[in-house]
Amino acid sequence: MKGRTTYTMIKPDAVSAGNSGAIIKMIEEAGFNIVAIKKTRLNQEVAGKFYAVHRGRPFYQDLCNYMSSGPIVAMILTKDNAVDDFRTLIGATNPSDAAAGTIRQLFATSIEANAIHGSDSDENALIEAGFFFSELERY
Ligand code: CMP
Repeated sequence: MKGRTTYTMIKPDAVSAGNSGAIIKMIEEAGFNIVAIKKTRLNQEVAGKFYAVHRGRPFYQDLCNYMSSGPIVAMILTKDNAVDDFRTLIGATNPSDAAAGTIRQLFATSIEANAIHGSDSDENALIEAGFFFSELERY
């Protein structure tokens, strides 16, 4: 059975544009429960570790620079089929490919500044949540 937990962060472009509230409203209206939420800022080292799977790819350094350029809003969300349903809600990585009405289609400005992150597997959701929230904060 698919898991009930996913991890997301609203990225610096969307936070600085004042779109956090509108994005959180869409997340709640889609039936996700916010079980933990935190506004914080990544430094280069944490951004590099979070995106370590992309190390070696041409966009990796720019991605780390961008993700540490301003505050983010980190959240743990729960819902049946959380990972897949959340990726449907946010849309394709590149906003020019994102379906109408998805968060990235509405708020992202480029493939890098794409407004929001969503975990790609149940396993990664738990790993990523652990980056930002202690055991006690997760409920
Ligand atoms: P995210 O879903 O957070 O996962 C990796 C991030 O790398 C992605 O969103 C984008 O913000 C960023 N990125 C930048 N360029 C690319 C690219 N060419 N392909 C995939 N991801 C990219």
